Amino acid sequence: MGRNVIVLGSQWGDEGKGKVVDLLTDRAHCVVRYQGGHNAGHTLVIDGKRTVLHLIPSGILREGVFCLIGNGVVVSPQALLQEMETLESNGVAVRQQLKISGACPLVLPYHKSMDIAREEKLGTKAIGTTRRGIAPAYEDKVARRAIKLMDLTRPEIFLEKLRDNLDYYNFLLTGYYQQPALDFGQVADEVLGDAQHIVPLIADIPALLNTFREEGKNILFEGAQGNALDVDQGAYPYVTSSNTTAGGAATGTGFGPLYFDEVMGITKAYTTRVGSGPMPTELLGEEGQLLAQRGNEFGSTTGRPRRCGWFDAPALRRAVYVNSMSSICLTKLDVLDAFDTIYLCTSYQLDGQALDAIPADSEMLARCQPVYEALPGWKTSTVGIAKYENLPENTRRYIERIEQIIQVPIDLISTGPDRKETIQRRNIF
Ligand code: IMP
Repeated sequence: MGRNVIVLGSQWGDEGKGKVVDLLTDRAHCVVRYQGGHNAGHTLVIDGKRTVLHLIPSGILREGVFCLIGNGVVVSPQALLQEMETLESNGVAVRQQLKISGACPLVLPYHKSMDIAREEKLGTKAIGTTRRGIAPAYEDKVARRAIKLMDLTRPEIFLEKLRDNLDYYNFLLTGYYQQPALDFGQVADEVLGDAQHIVPLIADIPALLNTFREEGKNILFEGAQGNALDVDQGAYPYVTSSNTTAGGAATGTGFGPLYFDEVMGITKAYTTRVGSGPMPTELLGEEGQLLAQRGNEFGSTTGRPRRCGWFDAPALRRAVYVNSMSSICLTKLDVLDAFDTIYLCTSYQLDGQALDAIPADSEMLARCQPVYEALPGWKTSTVGIAKYENLPENTRRYIERIEQIIQVPIDLISTGPDRKETIQRRNIF
C-alpha cells in the first residue's frame, strides 16, 4: 500500500517546506502542488547549491520523480516557462517529469496590474501581497471568467475570452485606478508564444493520481504559504486567496479526502510573517533583528524582510486541528542557538480571557496579548546535528515542551538548509 501524505506550512508560510518536501521525496513516486501560484518561494539547498522554486513542485530535483500541478494552482505561463528554462539549463529533465492540470486558471499580465493598482490604492491598509496577480486570478476563477490552461489548446476560444477579460480589466485599470491599459495584441502574442511549450504538459491529474494510488505508489502533496494565510481559515483579510489548509489538497487536485494517510505540518522553531496583518509574538527590537539576521529572513519571492517573533503555540494548536496534523517537522532550530533565554507563547489574553488557539479574524487577533513561558537557551551550535541524542539537553527540552503543548509528535527536525542536516525520528512514508 502506498501512502498519501500532505506536507504544509503550519504558520504564515516560509517554514522551510521546500527542503522537507525534497527530503521526503526520496520515498515518493510523485509530488503534487495543490494551491497558490508563483507567490510561493520554496528554497532547496543540495550539496551547497541553492535553487528557488515558485510553481514547480519541490520534487523536481529528484530524477524520475513525477511532479504534478493540480487544478487548485493558478499558473502564470511566463513564470512557469522561466522556471522550466532555469531548471533545464541546470540539467533537470523538467518536461519528462512535469504534468499540469488543464483546469488551472491562468495568471495573466492584467492580474498583476490589478494586484499592484489595488495595493497602491489601499495605501496604509494594503495587504502586502507579493504583487504577482494571485488574488485577481482566483477572483476570475470564482467569477467563472478565468482563462484556464486548457483554453490555450483552442486559440479561438482563448482569444475571445482574452478580449472579454481585457475589455473589463482595461475599463477598471484606466477608469477606476487611473493606470495604463494593456494591449490586446501584445498580451495575446506573449501568452500564445509561451503556450506552445506548456500545452504538451497538460494531463488529467485526478486520473493520474488515482492510477498511482491504485498501483500503491507514495504520493506527496506539497502545500504553499501556510495555515494562517488560508483564505477561509486565516485571519481575514490579511491572507492569500487560496485554501492553504489540508482540505485544499483534495479540492485542488481531485484526490478524494478518504485517501489521505498523514498530514505533516512544517513548523519554524520561531515565527515569521511577510506582509501586513497582526502577529502577536512579533519582536520589534534587537531580539527580532537577531532572529531575522540568523535565520536570513528575507522573502524568497520578493526579497522583503520578514517580521520575526517567538514561537506561537496558539497559532499551531489551531493549525493542528484545522488540518488534522499527525506529524510535525520543526525547522530552523539552529537559529535559536544564540539566545540566553527562549520564550514560548503558550496562550493569548483577549478581553480578560485566556485563549489557547488563534482566532481567524484579524481584528480580534490584533487585540490578543501573548502569554509567555521562559525556557533556558543552549548557547551552542546545533547546526548539522543529525541524531536526536546529540542535541543539547536544553534543545531537547524546548522540542519536548512544544510536543507536550500541541500533542503532536515532532518527527523531523531540520538543523540546517542541506538535506543531510536533518534529524529523522520517524519516516512518514
Ligand atoms: P498574495 O498571495 O500575493 O496575494 O499575498 C497575500 C499575503 O500572503 C501577503 O501577506 C503575502 O506576503 C503572503 N504570502 C503569499 N505567498 C507567500 C509565501 O510563499 N510565503 C509567505 N507569505 C506569503
